[in-house]
Amino acid sequence: MSLYPCIYQHGKIKNTVVQLLLFTTLLGLSACQQTQAPYIIHFSHSVDHTTPKGKTARLFAQLVKKRLAGKVTVKIYPNSELYIDRDLIEAMIWSKHKTIGLMGAPSLSDFIHYAKPLQAFDLPYLFNDITDVHKLVDSPIIDKMTAPLAQHGIKALGFWDNGMKVFSIRGAKPLTKIPADFRGKTIRIQNSKVHYEMIKVMGGIPKIMPFKKVYKNLGLGVIDGQENAWSNIYSKKFYEQQDYITVSNHSYLGYAVVINAEFWHNLPADIRHELKTIIKEVTKANRRYAAKANKQDREAIAAIGSTKIITLSNTERKKWAHRVKQKVEAKFSSEIGKELLKEIHKTLDK
Ligand code: SIN
Repeated sequence: MSLYPCIYQHGKIKNTVVQLLLFTTLLGLSACQQTQAPYIIHFSHSVDHTTPKGKTARLFAQLVKKRLAGKVTVKIYPNSELYIDRDLIEAMIWSKHKTIGLMGAPSLSDFIHYAKPLQAFDLPYLFNDITDVHKLVDSPIIDKMTAPLAQHGIKALGFWDNGMKVFSIRGAKPLTKIPADFRGKTIRIQNSKVHYEMIKVMGGIPKIMPFKKVYKNLGLGVIDGQENAWSNIYSKKFYEQQDYITVSNHSYLGYAVVINAEFWHNLPADIRHELKTIIKEVTKANRRYAAKANKQDREAIAAIGSTKIITLSNTERKKWAHRVKQKVEAKFSSEIGKELLKEIHKTLDK
């Protein structure tokens, strides 16, 4: 059996299902297009519209409506109403449509099959904080990291933040001592080989699961805990099912804003130019939304009072980092690219 069962289940059957889903989706979507602009963008994402990503997507749609009226229409589908992110990426790869765009902002973890260097974003303790993340995202290295996406028909347009991840857990004890507190605990993770390895090294049992199934499975006790950014824990009410949150800030949750390349390259140059300008503007707004949510949503969970929030001391944080950082990085350095990793470290140390 494969070490990463969910990650590797991209067989023929799955592709057929995604193709069928894409075909019926596009049929349905084009039927309602008659009275709309010649180009339509269906923006699918997995989170609530109140989160940093949800707000940024809505701002993008508003600005397109204002500045590209009669040319481009954007329709937003939050909460995985149209696709879960993994299926959205596959649909983008399959779509050869020139006037219907599929767009989204899946987590960087979701791109593991299509751009291995992006796995660097999942490495534990690579970033001290969001400022570090911005150093990398705003550097020329980012183009090298997204370059493989083009071979799959995906165009990367930008990067949006959510925040640093924290752990939540149900039970009598918070996760503070590593590995002791993780032993026997099943922790939900995203579709990430790096996170799979990280949880094992931390002493826990990793379980890959789509975001929309997390609340239910926390409630049913299928999983004991999960790792996420504050806005997702708050907007999806994960705190209702969890006794403790450990402020570990062990890795980053962020998104690549992507669109199907065939659609993108078919757009008239002036429309492409305006869309790029809008994405730059909304990316600035996204950083503000994320910074605010990380503070406010944490405070809101604290105010509800049902989940105790524990902040790791500096010594504990060092112990956590010492246990996982080098081990996990060594395991993935070849896939990410040894030279690229060196460049990343150099950029972050500046
Ligand atoms: C998202 O923020 O888009 C989903 C994160 C997750 O799967 O935990």
